[in-house]
Amino acid sequence: MKNDKVLIFDTTLRDGEQAPGATMSAEEKLEIAFSLERLGVDIIEAGFPVSSKGDFDSVQNVARHLKNSCVCGLARSITKDIDAVIDAIKPARHRRIHIFLATSKIHLQHKLKKSQDEIVKMAVESVKYARKRIDNIEFSPEDASRTEKTFLYRILEEVIKAGATTVNIPDTVGYSTPREYGAVIAGIRNNVPNIGRCVISTHCHDDLGLGVANSLSGVENGARQVECTINGIGERAGNASMEEVVMGLKTRWDFYGLSTNINTKEFYRASRLVSKASGFIVPPNKAVVGANAFRHESGIHQDGVLKERRTYEIMNPEDVGVPSHEGLVLGKHSGRHAFIDRLKRLGIVLSETDVALAFVRFKDLADKKKEVYDEDLWALIEDEGHRTHVAYTLVDLISTSGSNIAPRVVVTLQYKGKKQTKESTGDGPVDACYKAIESLTQLKVNLLDYSIKSVTQGKDALGEVTVKTSIDGQAFIGRAATTDIIEASAKAYINAINKFMAQQNLKR
Ligand code: KIV
Ligand code: ZN
Repeated sequence: MKNDKVLIFDTTLRDGEQAPGATMSAEEKLEIAFSLERLGVDIIEAGFPVSSKGDFDSVQNVARHLKNSCVCGLARSITKDIDAVIDAIKPARHRRIHIFLATSKIHLQHKLKKSQDEIVKMAVESVKYARKRIDNIEFSPEDASRTEKTFLYRILEEVIKAGATTVNIPDTVGYSTPREYGAVIAGIRNNVPNIGRCVISTHCHDDLGLGVANSLSGVENGARQVECTINGIGERAGNASMEEVVMGLKTRWDFYGLSTNINTKEFYRASRLVSKASGFIVPPNKAVVGANAFRHESGIHQDGVLKERRTYEIMNPEDVGVPSHEGLVLGKHSGRHAFIDRLKRLGIVLSETDVALAFVRFKDLADKKKEVYDEDLWALIEDEGHRTHVAYTLVDLISTSGSNIAPRVVVTLQYKGKKQTKESTGDGPVDACYKAIESLTQLKVNLLDYSIKSVTQGKDALGEVTVKTSIDGQAFIGRAATTDIIEASAKAYINAINKFMAQQNLKR
């Protein structure tokens, strides 16, 4: 039978979280895991349990809550790592362990200081050890693309004999080219005698911007699992982007003849969620989910699309869940019914209380902004939702600045029902605002990164601010969107502070 299904293995929560500055909270990880399950991801790598108690707990939490996707944990070829994975994923309905060990000469000589024979022994022993407690075992020879071919074939044959059911071929440092990587996969198929008992997987980093191309080349040459992340986040330059790989296979089905189990309509939502949790803004020109991916600027293109969409569009924005500007736009005369109807159409599920709160904010926004687009609604809901623990609320903000006067702000915050006001000056209105907030909360907040983007086009667009902060040595990301960018800046800062407060609350 022709094997025309490609399994999607998502590693946003493990390799993705290894991206510098992308630390996510346990709550955010669970929310992402739910989003991945809605997408129809086959296997979710939820973390590296032995690395910290936080990671262990978070993998266990994901394992407890997912119903359909298989939950996987990463382990080095060490028994304590394997035990940690087995324990963490125990509550999951479907489970997998992912064991890795470096195989390239450079890693053996400089990192592990071991011979090839010792490496084969370690790999085989660890797979055999795991096999006693689980039968879904993935093995990765780390830095496989730079590993001597004969050694790669040998170790794969041995781990398959020992019980591995998937062999993953990492291009760990993103060094390969598509033809070369495809040849590695073809070589494995032709030279590992027992490879038929296993699924071959790709895992391609994006250091040369070839992660997706290499993954697709792997698939063309027989790989039937792709490891990838939402928005392509991952160690260094990142990993292959799931939305690009899947839409590549779907859009060019005529070429690949292969399908996945992914519900592509969930991509836009998942991308926003991962961007929000990781603090990594999606560039406007990002394929599939970028703000410009379906915008046409040139008159010739616009004319073409109006006459026939396919002249300049190879994908339908609706197929990836990108909100459409066509049809009904909400405004200040839109009622509760239209608002709820639009939320439903966008697949946004909220409790009655949250709908009521969101509707108040929508009315407020519609007063300031003539037309409220789907993107505005997403920003508004995200701002209103996830209020795990709202310690501080912004009650009032007065800001004065100009080219010849020192910026001055007056901030009023509410904490435990009590309002407090602070006036402050600074290098700019945002700086002044942050000084006032720090003084009111009595917290030392380190601002690591600040970015702002407009949610839609037009002068009255919502400004969405993302801040990366460090509080008490830990990273917290805050995000907020309003039509006033100083207010959005203040709210994003408060959002990060509230996440810190939520964590302190949990520790108590
Ligand atoms: O890039 C890599 O080699 C990895 C392994 C752990 C699979 O992430
Ligand atoms: Zn990796």
